[in-house]
Amino acid sequence: MAENNPDRVVLITGAASGIGAAVCRRIAGPGCSLVLHTRGSQDSRRQDLEAVAQQAEKAGSPVLTLFGDLSEDGLASGLVEQSLVHFGRLDQIVSNAGFADRRPLGEVDRETLDRSLRAMPGAFFDLVTAALPTLQDSAWGRVVAVSSFVAHVYAADGLFPATAAAKAGLESLAKSLAVQLAPTGATVNCVVPGYTRKDATGHSALSEEGWQRAIGKTPNGRIAEPDDHAAAVSFLLSRDASHITGQVIHVDGGLTLA
Ligand SMILES: NC(=O)c1ccc[n+]([C@@H]2O[C@H](COP(=O)([O-])OP(=O)(O)OC[C@H]3O[C@@H](n4cnc5c(N)ncnc54)[C@H](OP(=O)(O)O)[C@@H]3O)[C@@H](O)[C@H]2O)c1
Repeated sequence: MAENNPDRVVLITGAASGIGAAVCRRIAGPGCSLVLHTRGSQDSRRQDLEAVAQQAEKAGSPVLTLFGDLSEDGLASGLVEQSLVHFGRLDQIVSNAGFADRRPLGEVDRETLDRSLRAMPGAFFDLVTAALPTLQDSAWGRVVAVSSFVAHVYAADGLFPATAAAKAGLESLAKSLAVQLAPTGATVNCVVPGYTRKDATGHSALSEEGWQRAIGKTPNGRIAEPDDHAAAVSFLLSRDASHITGQVIHVDGGLTLA
């Protein structure tokens, strides 16, 4: 039975809305067991994750839902441990949870920088460190980190210094891991969103006016949909992408070229 011996077990962090939820919708189905996570500090966000989980179960995926703040010590490694206890193995990780802070240097405080580093590269480090043995053993090992254009575009009217530092660290860790895991066949890549439409329940660092400006800055004249990124992530998770590793793939309508 596929449920007892799935083709792959996939952990997606930040899956209650936006890109994480879109990835879940793309890959859910028989043979794909899912561990879905959100911080869940508000009941409504826990309910959002449960709604995503119900959709995935309807599509044929067994699902485990987990909650917690990735900036807290031990949370990320605990997600891996709970995945292993529940499903017996973990083949793929989508390290998607994140947030943006657009305060410039001089206004952004040290605590925000530290929290950003703990919740993004720090959590990635803990996730993949805990998962290393199961990724190495997997016949279908994949890691995809969701980064951000803010680590690549430095425009005077759109600086995100704390977030940029966190996402740049995430990309560096992903490249090191890609080389380390390459002999095992497991791949590690980054998807780098440009400006992307938020679900009504998501967290936005921009005003309505800021989102309008974002459209103007994007060469193809639109912001991304979460599913634009989910398409890239699900491809990188697929067996077809087995020879792609250590790459940083921009899904941004040309934003980083402008
Ligand atoms: N939307 C954009 O324009 C854009 C652009 C570039 C990059 N990105 C990146 O894409 C990823 C997904 O963004 P999105 O817009 O789809 O997200 P979203 O809808 O705002 O959802 C973010 C998810 O991450 C979780 N999360 C945030 N901080 C967390 C923490 N400290 N601990 C645990 N979970 C945390 C949230 O949990 P709760 O809701 O439960 O708190 C939520 O499930 C993020 O890494 C973001 O940086 C987005």
